[in-house]
Amino acid sequence: MAKLGVNVDHVATLRQARRTYEPDPAHAAAVCEFAGADSLTLHLREDRRHVQDRDLRLIRETAHLPLNLEMGLSHEILSIALQSMPDQATIVPERREEVTTEGGLDAAGRLVEVSEATGRLAGRGIRVSLFIEAEERHIRAAAQARAHAVEFHTGAYSLAHQRGAGPAVEELERLAAAATLARELGLVVNMGHGLNYRNITDLVSTVSVNEYNIGHAIISRALFVGLERAVAEMKRLIG
Ligand code: PXP
Repeated sequence: MAKLGVNVDHVATLRQARRTYEPDPAHAAAVCEFAGADSLTLHLREDRRHVQDRDLRLIRETAHLPLNLEMGLSHEILSIALQSMPDQATIVPERREEVTTEGGLDAAGRLVEVSEATGRLAGRGIRVSLFIEAEERHIRAAAQARAHAVEFHTGAYSLAHQRGAGPAVEELERLAAAATLARELGLVVNMGHGLNYRNITDLVSTVSVNEYNIGHAIISRALFVGLERAVAEMKRLIG
């Protein structure tokens, strides 16, 4: 059964719109836990546009679920990761001008940097996942860097699904083949980005995945049905 990681960055985004204290991502983290989420994801960006250092500290202290910290390859964020000791660190590309994480990490092109960060994190017992496109060169680079897992960027699948069944099938086949290769190389396979209540079912029935990391769709649905129900509904769809 696949696991559900809930990304609570979007709760922080709403709070930062007013630079106030509500809604609190730590509160959201507790609700996700009660609703059946399997892990929590936070992305501490260099520009601190949503998640703040305090959120990471508080969630690390109070949440019982495994914590997945998304992080760009900067010295500052790497040292925060080494101090806060998340259960998993997912290395992502990060550009200040982007709205969200657009595209996967160039693991093949940045192999030396990625291997060094992976070694430092893994040396402290933190599992390392690389957020990459489902492409052979990046999968092979992840194995070379001795990452524990890969997270395939499902943005292209999500866009294809909006266009209809044909394009979505092609993307599903691409993800399935990439997942097989990654597993052959000893990597755990996670997926995320743009997954929602409409497109998740086809993915679940086609590809075997360890964990889905989902943020935007769950927090959006929570506006109308509440966070607990939004998480529980997604959990049912992937279970
Ligand atoms: N996984 C990673 C690595 C991400 O960067 C994001 C976006 O923050 C997600 C999953 C979740 O994407 P979405 O908010 O579209 O569900």
